Amino acid sequence: DPRPVLIAGGAGYIGSHVALALADAGRPVVILDDLSTGRQALVPEGAVFVRGDMGDRALVRRLLAEHGCSGVMMFAGSIIVSESFREPLPYWRNNAGSGLAFVETCVEAGIRHFVYSSTAAVYGTPDTLPISESAALRPISPYGRSKLAVEWALSDICETAPTRFAALRYFNVAGADHRGRSGQVSPVATHLIKIAVEAALGRREGMAIYGDDYPTADGTCIRDYIHVTDLAEAHVLALAHLERGGESLIANCGYGHGFSVREVIDVVRRVSGRDFPVHSSERRRGDPPALVADSGLLKAKLGWVARRDDLELMVRSALEWEAKQQP
Ligand code: UFG
Repeated sequence: DPRPVLIAGGAGYIGSHVALALADAGRPVVILDDLSTGRQALVPEGAVFVRGDMGDRALVRRLLAEHGCSGVMMFAGSIIVSESFREPLPYWRNNAGSGLAFVETCVEAGIRHFVYSSTAAVYGTPDTLPISESAALRPISPYGRSKLAVEWALSDICETAPTRFAALRYFNVAGADHRGRSGQVSPVATHLIKIAVEAALGRREGMAIYGDDYPTADGTCIRDYIHVTDLAEAHVLALAHLERGGESLIANCGYGHGFSVREVIDVVRRVSGRDFPVHSSERRRGDPPALVADSGLLKAKLGWVARRDDLELMVRSALEWEAKQQP
């Protein structure tokens, strides 16, 4: 399909990598981002950029019509689990309120293909690992609930509309574009790898481990870290699947194995060659002990291949990206 794709949140960390992947493949992209956490510098060269809110129906309607978009992707949203407990309202307003307005506007405009950023947080604390898409949905944070709400809305609405959707449930996204065009930009760092990388670069005193008494081998939480470029490829494949007439689908995005917080910190120390102080601290609210994806469906239905399943590579690219940012 040569028609443009509208990308809400396309100036953020994951959205910009997907925009780059589509643009690299020659697909026109229109990026809508309010720049609350994203950065215009991450927008691919030649892409249309508009600053605005995905919940602004008139704006979205105009962009879809003006550019003749055939598909959309929705990355925009608030994503910090711990913050969502302290400030639930913005999570419901941004992720659920504006998210639903965006879905409604796109469906009314006749958009056939909708790719939605979902999250492993929809599972809460799983009963078994790895987690398959059919596992119970029991989110334990306002963040997870607000993301699941729109996933459910999409799946209900697509039952009666000609729109088909792909909801990709991300596990822990890490790394940066190998050509250095994009990387993590969140103004407030909360992600483990970004914080450890900042510590390795001497940009913070050291760091805390949030809980070392979990029921895991070394007592720290286990996460399935997926390279952002492999995740971007999953989006390109999901859109191609919908454009080929494929059914709506929900798929986990991860590699199927995890690393503990301590293991990640050790890799950052080794790859950077720098030591930094680490202390144990209280558990963080909303952290499940272990999250590991069963990504069989992504491979079987979309032909996705885990090309960058390498934590050292993810850490190295995150270090290179961070070193280039203004401290
Ligand atoms: N951690 C620390 N110290 C830090 C930062 C993180 O010990 O300074 C720990 C956390 O407690 C957690 C692990 O490192 O055990 C990973 O934490 P992140 O904040 O990097 O990632 P999360 O697992 O909390 O969250 C990510 C995404 C969410 C998504 C979720 C799915 O940020 O958007 O995965 O489970 F919903």
